[in-house]
Amino acid sequence: MILSLISQKGGVGKSTIARLLGVEMARAGWRVLIADLDANQGTVTQWKIARDREALDPDLDVIKYRSVERALKDAGRYDLTILDGPAHAERGGLTMARASSLVILPSGYSLDDLHPQAAVAGELERAGTPPVRIRVALGRVKGSETERRDVRDYLRRAGLEVFDAELREMPTIRQAHMAGRAASETTHQSINQEAAALAAEIAAALTASAEVA
Ligand SMILES: Nc1ncnc2c1ncn2[C@@H]1O[C@H](COP(=O)(O)OP(=O)(O)O)[C@@H](O)[C@H]1O
Ligand SMILES: [Mg+2]
Repeated sequence: MILSLISQKGGVGKSTIARLLGVEMARAGWRVLIADLDANQGTVTQWKIARDREALDPDLDVIKYRSVERALKDAGRYDLTILDGPAHAERGGLTMARASSLVILPSGYSLDDLHPQAAVAGELERAGTPPVRIRVALGRVKGSETERRDVRDYLRRAGLEVFDAELREMPTIRQAHMAGRAASETTHQSINQEAAALAAEIAAALTASAEVA
């Protein structure tokens, strides 16, 4: 199975969800590859070095690629390949989406994040990606309950599906990342549970979508 994380903007939480889902699926026994397509940043590649240094389980593969095509060539060797896209995934984004059972568009509560992601969803749909294969994940969330409702209203009006679980913006998640851990492996049990809930929802959507395809 192949899953893509796509955005126009950087810093919306793509690599965070890649690490979270990768770790949780590996824990469930899947052979997982995270394809780090952000060759300039190499966020997940750096993270994997820290994870190996600490010899953390479960293990998963992280490989840096300069093109989506190259990543797709390796995908056959894994149960799940997570394409962790760069910012400005214009053309590459279409190739990523076409190969994927599920496309995730991460966002925070801010319209500055949401609006570009709604535009990306529109582009992908016009290029032939079925809307049911596109989901927003609120992955770097900070704000009030009112904001939360407004955001979900906005997404509903935009016709975009969104996962119920959200990941709050928390220092402990940043610290976990620096230590080679995922958002479900922090020192805060409640955060780990929220993160694992999001991963479980994504996994369910992925398997449902792959069965239809
Ligand atoms: N829920 C969160 N809580 C705290 N920090 C987060 C959270 N999500 C992302 N970050 C941090 O924000 C930065 C950008 O996130 P990242 O997932 O790398 O975004 P992208 O891959 O879209 O550029 C990283 O430093 C990451 O550790
Ligand atoms: Mg990234």
